[in-house]
Amino acid sequence: VSDAWWATFFDATYRALWAERTTPERTRLEVDGIEQVLAAHGIAGPARILDLFCGDGRIGLELAVRGHDVTGLDRSASMLAAARERSLVVGARIELVEEDARLAHRLGGHFDVVACWGSSFGYFEETADDLEVLEAIRRVLRPGGVLLLETAHRDRIAIAHASDAQLRDWWHGDGYTVLRERWFDPTSGRAGEDLQITLPDGTRERRGLSLRAYTATELVALCRAADLHDPATYGGPGPTAFGLDTRLLLVARRAPT
Ligand SMILES: C[S@@+](CC[C@H](N)C(=O)[O-])C[C@H]1O[C@@H](n2cnc3c(N)ncnc32)[C@H](O)[C@@H]1O
Repeated sequence: VSDAWWATFFDATYRALWAERTTPERTRLEVDGIEQVLAAHGIAGPARILDLFCGDGRIGLELAVRGHDVTGLDRSASMLAAARERSLVVGARIELVEEDARLAHRLGGHFDVVACWGSSFGYFEETADDLEVLEAIRRVLRPGGVLLLETAHRDRIAIAHASDAQLRDWWHGDGYTVLRERWFDPTSGRAGEDLQITLPDGTRERRGLSLRAYTATELVALCRAADLHDPATYGGPGPTAFGLDTRLLLVARRAPT
């Protein structure tokens, strides 16, 4: 996996392969969870939400359908084009911005919420870049605004790799066949997937993804370093208990003044 695998990975092939993992039902459940967590953190009505790493806009558009004022930011023109198409299908509008997440603060500081959803954090090689993303998030939030960061966490990944769990599997999507091998390197703390893809026309392609799998402890410390306060951890997508066998939904906020 190259250092900047994320610069080319998110394209039409990615969308075809991931379509099964992100069904409309799944997305609705996730957005139910987001609204429950926001209510638990004092944001009950329509909010100004930045969907950071918005991808094809599935989360941001579902939030817009429910009356929120949403901006989606992503650096992939291909994913943003897919978000525009999806916007026509669902009949909701969000503003879409093609930008690197580290520069999100250029949008100004008026958002009530930043949602950073679906294992989109930790792609950079250097922790300093991840910290830059969190600092940009703090700067786009209004005072008292809330960050929701939903991702896989290292403790759960480490347990999966220490057991006999099947970490090599086949899966299919829209004419594609994929042999997937999941890996975890406890020294670098990175985890990822190597994919051998057979495309619908029979050609083969290899590609991979890799991210820094932070523990909740590390992610809380990183938020504090970015001056984001009152960290709370949930299993997600709603305000459910966080644990070794759950995903991680970290909530933190910009200081109120
Ligand atoms: C897992 S996908 C999107 C997940 C999306 N939040 C969802 O739940 O469907 C991650 C997205 O992050 C975007 N991305 C990766 N690195 C980025 C960066 N440095 N700045 C902005 N977007 C980035 C990719 O283009 C991709 O669309």
